[in-house]
Amino acid sequence: MLDLARDHLPSHLTTLARRYGNIYRLQCGSTTMVVLSSADVIREALVRKWSDFAGRPHSYTGDLVSGGGCSISLGDYSEEWKTHRKVTHSALQRCVAGPLQDVIKQQALKLRQVLLDYDGAAVDLSEDFTVAASNVITALSFRKQFEKSSTDLQKLHGCLNRIVSLWGSPWISALDSFPLLRKLPNRPFSKLLDEVTRRDALIRTHLEDFKHVLSRSGYGRLLNALNRNTLTDTHVHMTMVDLLIGGTETTAAWLCWTVGFLLHRPEIQDQVYEELCSVLEGRYPQYSDRRRLPVLSALVCEVLRLRPVAPLAVPHRAVRDSSIAGYFIPKDSVIIPNLFGAHHDPAVWTDPYKFRPERFLEEGGASLSMLLPFSAGARLCLGESVAKMELFLFTAYLLRDFQLLVPEDTSLPDLKGKATVVLKATPFRVVARPRP
Ligand code: HEM
Repeated sequence: MLDLARDHLPSHLTTLARRYGNIYRLQCGSTTMVVLSSADVIREALVRKWSDFAGRPHSYTGDLVSGGGCSISLGDYSEEWKTHRKVTHSALQRCVAGPLQDVIKQQALKLRQVLLDYDGAAVDLSEDFTVAASNVITALSFRKQFEKSSTDLQKLHGCLNRIVSLWGSPWISALDSFPLLRKLPNRPFSKLLDEVTRRDALIRTHLEDFKHVLSRSGYGRLLNALNRNTLTDTHVHMTMVDLLIGGTETTAAWLCWTVGFLLHRPEIQDQVYEELCSVLEGRYPQYSDRRRLPVLSALVCEVLRLRPVAPLAVPHRAVRDSSIAGYFIPKDSVIIPNLFGAHHDPAVWTDPYKFRPERFLEEGGASLSMLLPFSAGARLCLGESVAKMELFLFTAYLLRDFQLLVPEDTSLPDLKGKATVVLKATPFRVVARPRP
């Protein structure tokens, strides 16, 4: 019996893949789930046969949290969804080519000041990373930035996090499988509905502020671009929810993992620092410097490999009968791309569980083409290029200015973590000592 609520489902599904193969089936009530755990089978399904597997499972509770299926992440494959995704993608690409780099740099410098203000104290940086990542999205869209102590920020993220965690709870998933339960009182479900109402009121306020006060003043280009197009207000609203949920906890969790791994191998920090000093001669990096900074780029790839922060992507649905690796896959099967499993596949990666950024630098070493942290195909992470610039610049700024140390009174951070929708490190403290 598979416990879907266990702490580290990706790792459990990967253990099953070693026993049953890189494609296997799980039966959950009337739903057939197909788990894919190697880059080859994931690519076959999501890239070569993308149009067969681009759907999302329908669910009663999913509809309630996604404005009736109007979100990009939970909306099913349809002409309306394709337009929604295309318009948002091109608005984001305009940001990547335009203001994004400056927005990230500004947040990286703000983060630098926060770390200087800690003055060598041992601290948990996870909230500071969340603030930085969230400010990138809110600056691009609403032209707003928040401090960690801001009640607006706490309200928004508190609410989004509660929705994600309540929606994943068994009390609520049960309503999708057993419609009769919807007639009974269910406290977690009432809480979920309250949080969705609260979320919508908060997003509406930010959208209204933008419309009345800020839209004429230049950037906030993401919303300007969305509003110029044919999207309905509900679609624009749900885009903001998608970007805030998709773009905040993922980036913040990845930064925490990077710090955690670097505490285990401090010599990698020194290598990155030396590379930054010798290549940049004191200046801060640009994203265009990435090819001249191979050690830093290898570090980014290795953390994405070992801890793909969306380890099981988002479930896909077969929109018609199809096949994967020669197996028949009936319409409406739920497809789970186990990215964590693919990144730990011993047929592809030497010492798959070891943190070794150098694997990407060695001759004949690891191949970037086997990495799938952002998934692939029609549902490829919509924020991939935003995220890549963020991971590179935040890490570069952090390691240029600080040496990260394990506090004297503590042991090294645990590197197993806990996986819900996002794979997060167990909280740990770190000392950020300014580089001379
Ligand atoms: C979806 C990974 C950051 C927005 C996804 C998926 C993955 C992923 C694996 C699921 C794809 C699938 O269903 O096959 C990551 C990682 C990130 C990151 C590893 C950072 C380290 C971001 C950022 C944004 C974002 C910064 C927004 C700016 C989205 C959206 C979707 C998505 C909207 C839904 C796409 C769809 O259903 O078509 N992401 N993501 N993500 N991500 Fe990201």
